[in-house]
Amino acid sequence: MDTIRIKDKTFAVSIKEEDILKEVERVADAINRDLTGKNPLFLCVLNGSFMFASDLMKRISIPCEISFVKLASYQGVSSTGVIKEVIGLNEDISGRTVVIVEDIVDTGLTMQRLLETLGTRNPAEIHIATLLVKPDKLQVELDIEYAAMQIPNDFIVGYGLDYDGFGRNYKDIYTLV
Ligand code: IMP
Repeated sequence: MDTIRIKDKTFAVSIKEEDILKEVERVADAINRDLTGKNPLFLCVLNGSFMFASDLMKRISIPCEISFVKLASYQGVSSTGVIKEVIGLNEDISGRTVVIVEDIVDTGLTMQRLLETLGTRNPAEIHIATLLVKPDKLQVELDIEYAAMQIPNDFIVGYGLDYDGFGRNYKDIYTLV
């Protein structure tokens, strides 16, 4: 399928599954090398990271734990207006090596919020693993150690990412045309 239609929009295939998997493998190799002996806790951020998390974790060969969190947006009093609350974090992360597994870092505000929240729970260290980064959109300084791919400032779907809830199921990544 070279193009797909979701609601009012058309998307064209831009990154094929085999190319995604090569980069996922590279990230997994780096994590296996860097975090040996640290028994990391991978915190996968739902919903978008589910496919990346699955392919990544199959390639992680060091002892580790995996858990899932969700971010709930709600209107609150803050400089940005929308506050994202981390829900579903039941593990005690104090003293742990935590790896956040995300689908995409766009402005970086979501990741910043996650780092702030997790930071209050005294982890030993927090690392970021993301499938994608849009470097031109980044608004905050983040140390993104494990990024599978960088993409231009386009809207994409597939491989876990959605447009209005749809499109997460495609194995390739598609760009809005
Ligand atoms: P940020 O807070 O601006 O970095 O946004 C991060 C979140 O926005 C991601 O976890 C995605 O859910 C969503 N997002 C950003 N860019 C895209 C895209 O191109 N397609 C689908 N979702 C996106």
